[in-house]
Amino acid sequence: EKDGYDHFMLKEIAEQPKAVADTLLGRIGADGRLLLDQMRLSDEELREMDKVVVIACGTAYHAGMVAKYAIEHWTRVPCEVELASEFRYRDPVVGRRTLVVAISQSGETMDTLMALRYAREQGARVLAICNTNGATIPRESDAVFYTYAGPEVAVASTKAFLTQLIACYLVGLYLGQVRGTKWGDEVRSVVRDLSDLPSKVDQVLETMEPVRALARELSTATSVLFVGRHVGFPVALEGALKLKELAYMHAEGFAAAELKHGPIALIEDGVPVVVVVPSPRGRSVLHDKIVSNIQEIRARGARTIVIAEEGDEAVVPYADHIVRVPECPTLLQPVVATVPLQVFACEMASARGFDVDQPRNLAKSVTVE
Ligand code: M6R
Repeated sequence: EKDGYDHFMLKEIAEQPKAVADTLLGRIGADGRLLLDQMRLSDEELREMDKVVVIACGTAYHAGMVAKYAIEHWTRVPCEVELASEFRYRDPVVGRRTLVVAISQSGETMDTLMALRYAREQGARVLAICNTNGATIPRESDAVFYTYAGPEVAVASTKAFLTQLIACYLVGLYLGQVRGTKWGDEVRSVVRDLSDLPSKVDQVLETMEPVRALARELSTATSVLFVGRHVGFPVALEGALKLKELAYMHAEGFAAAELKHGPIALIEDGVPVVVVVPSPRGRSVLHDKIVSNIQEIRARGARTIVIAEEGDEAVVPYADHIVRVPECPTLLQPVVATVPLQVFACEMASARGFDVDQPRNLAKSVTVE
């Protein structure tokens, strides 16, 4: 039941720190090494893989986009991510040395299932990342990594998404571990950072009132744009998807630098633009670039809503609203940066009088192709 929350979605947003903690539980050894042998893929098999292909739909696809950045960075194994519905219709290059990762909360999504069957027919090994014990997708896969988000009832995926991100990080780090690539101080410190995430998500949840107020204030907007770079790009896409499916509002996500190649023409006075800003520490080039993107957007009259790390002062002059998230290494930032966008969409849907848990035209799991 809803445990006193108005909607399942609100309850599920609130459950995210626990969902993340549960998904990490038992998967990191005392020495910081990862324990994923329950996956049923041997180290030899993983060492042989020369390519990773992630297939998924909707929100799970956005988790897959983040996986690509993380897996390539940590393992140096080429990683592609593709919408499951497109995958088998384009004669993809997959074979015995391809690890296909199929991400699905329900484990019953027909597009993903058909793509994984195709991949197996081509000889690929398939690893399912799934939230539903014994569902069709994990049953038909060679290996499975379960996320422990618990049942997700609201049609809009929230806690499952955060746990899919965790699963992708763990699988990426594990691949790095067994292949011996980049297994050094950087990866060891990422493992520590992962363990800090549940309390960081908690921190974000405690500061959401201004985001709710902002959603109510913007509830008559006709369009909202979301932009990000690097792993902030899939976060932007996820923010836009949430708003579309819940608030029935035109919303689009862009890679920030693509704006100047066309979409910047959409920006007129007062259009809300949500910008996901990476950490100013570490790869500061990325940060500097997005600060100039915010400047450009603002100069064209947009109302800028900036998701930025605590202490990031560089964004202040160009932000109409700032939503602060705790410090996080860039690759892990989607775990904290997505939360305000979920809250924003949920509140927007309520303010516009729509059914938050059962948006029109949508089902929890899409079992037709
Ligand atoms: O169960 P799955 O993870 O395979 O579902 C995939 C998508 O249908 C799902 O993520 C959908 O996009 C959500 N409604 C988004 O909130």
